[in-house]
Amino acid sequence: MTALKPLVVANWKMNGLKTSLAEIETVQSQATSQSLYETADIMFCLPATLLHCAVEGFTPSQISFGGQNCHVKTSGAYTGDISAEMLADVGAKAVIVGHSERRSDHGETSATVTLKAQAAHNIGLQAVICIGETAGERAANLTLKVIKRQIYDSVPKGATAHNTIIAYEPVWAIGTGLTPTPDDVAKVHDYIRQEISTYLGATNGDTMRLLYGGSVKPDNAKDLLFASNVNGALVGGASLKSEQFLGILECYKT
Ligand code: PGA
Repeated sequence: MTALKPLVVANWKMNGLKTSLAEIETVQSQATSQSLYETADIMFCLPATLLHCAVEGFTPSQISFGGQNCHVKTSGAYTGDISAEMLADVGAKAVIVGHSERRSDHGETSATVTLKAQAAHNIGLQAVICIGETAGERAANLTLKVIKRQIYDSVPKGATAHNTIIAYEPVWAIGTGLTPTPDDVAKVHDYIRQEISTYLGATNGDTMRLLYGGSVKPDNAKDLLFASNVNGALVGGASLKSEQFLGILECYKT
């Protein structure tokens, strides 16, 4: 299997005002001067309010942009929601779906997540599909069982390595400063790759990017992101400040 170029995705969640785009500007200029684009692709998944502005302001650039959620429908009477088509319309290339905060705070089920991923695919966006076990499930030794169920229930049957990225985010590691050991990450990622191959075929299984997310910081990036079958990261807190995000990107420099 050929090595997949890592992808580091910033997930700003409900953070960031127009002035915060200066952080991306710093990432862009540093990534250029340090040739960081050669070793990793970079994406910012921004609040919807900032997407248009960012795409306009940072194009042309090797940084791509995505949304953090989309509705399952293309349009309609859904006050406050945003469709995949709307994200694509302002230049997004991807959308995060099934983040654990959406699953827990908004009751999103895997059935909904798969419809959202499908909506993204239909309009040509990549879906970054999040999966991961809770602390309780981990303590009960159910991690792989939960992961398997989430793969089959959250990833649409027609998904490909081109239109889908899987982000493994143990729920207990998100925003807590806690992380699994690199061995634990490797065990889960090896398992995800194997299950994706079974579910979507060997080609997709071999070439789909699998990101790790959950308290990735500059000081643990090298350990976590070089674990077996990890092809990048989904970064929350540490993506808000350019210095920390760059610190993570720099782990790929030899
Ligand atoms: P964190 O968030 O890096 O702040 O733990 C990751 C995520 O939720 O995507």
